[in-house]
Amino acid sequence: MQKQTKNQKVVLVGDGSVGSAYAVLMMQQTVMDELVIVDIAKDHSEGDALDLEDTQLWGQPKWVHAGTYADTKDADIVVITAGVPRKPGETRLDLVQKNLKILKTIVGPVVDSGFNGIFLVSANPVDILTAATQKLSGFPANRVLGTGTSLDTVRLRVALGKQLDLAPQTLDVNVIGEHGDTQFAAYSPAKVGDQSLLDVAQAKGLSLDDLKQTEDGSRKKGGQIIGLKGATFYGVATCLTRITKAILNNENVVLPVGAHLDGEYGVHDLYLGTPALINAQGVAQVLPLDLSADEQDQMTASAQAMAKVLNGAMA
Ligand code: 2OP
Repeated sequence: MQKQTKNQKVVLVGDGSVGSAYAVLMMQQTVMDELVIVDIAKDHSEGDALDLEDTQLWGQPKWVHAGTYADTKDADIVVITAGVPRKPGETRLDLVQKNLKILKTIVGPVVDSGFNGIFLVSANPVDILTAATQKLSGFPANRVLGTGTSLDTVRLRVALGKQLDLAPQTLDVNVIGEHGDTQFAAYSPAKVGDQSLLDVAQAKGLSLDDLKQTEDGSRKKGGQIIGLKGATFYGVATCLTRITKAILNNENVVLPVGAHLDGEYGVHDLYLGTPALINAQGVAQVLPLDLSADEQDQMTASAQAMAKVLNGAMA
C-alpha cells in the first residue's frame, strides 16, 4: 500500500446531510490535504467549511474551504451527494427525474474544468445516477463508481451479527444488485472464516428463512430510518469515506461498491452493487461472486429492473 505523494484533493458536490456527515468523517479519518465543498447554497457551504476548520486541531492539518466547479480541475476525487432526498413513503426510484436533472448541472461543468480523476456517486437512485455520470462524462467506467449496495451490505452484516452473536466484521456476506427493492444477499458464497455462513447459522439453529427475514428488515431499514428521523446520512457517509480512503491510499482492497458490469453476472453496461477491487485507479477489477442458480436469477431480475429505469431516464 503506497500513499500517493501528490497533494490529495477531494471535491464534495452537495453539502446536505449526507455531504456534511461525509465531510466531518473525511476531516477526521483521512490523509487528504484539501477538501473543497461545492453547493448551490453558498452561505451554507462557506459556513460548513469554517465549522469544519474547527474539527482538526487533533488531526492532520487540512485545507477545507467552499469552492466552485473550477476547483475540480486538479482534484483526485469528485464526490457527488447532491440530490433531493427521499421523503417518507417515497422509493429511491421516485427521485430519478429530479436528481438526474440536478446531476446534469454538475457533471458538465466538472468535465469542462479539465477534471481527470474519479467520480464517486451516492445520490439516489444511486445505480442510475452512477451510470448516468459515466455516460454524461464519457469517463472510463473504472473511474466512475457509486456506493451501490455498500450500505445494504453493512446493514445486513450488522443485523446478522446481532442474530448470530458474531462481530459484523467477521461476516463475509454481500448484498448485491440494486440499492433498492431488487437487492439481495448472496448466501451461497458467504463465509464466516473458512466456514459457510449457512452452516454456521444452522449450527446455531437458524435456517436460511431466518436469515432472509433479517435480510428483509435491513433492506427496509433506509425507509424505516427516514420514517423516524426524516433522512439517513451517517451510514452512507461512512461508506463514502471508506471508499474514498481506499482510492486515496491506493489500498487494493475488496469493497462492496456500485461498479460498472461488463459481462460479470451476465450483465452488460450497467452499474450494480458488487464486490470490487478498489485502488487509486478507482475500480481496478470487478470481483463477481459465485452465485447459485437462484441467486443468479435474482441478479438478472435486478439488472433488468435497473436497465428499464436507466433506458427510460436517459432516453
Ligand atoms: C439509504 O438507504 C441513503 O439510500 C440510502 O439510507
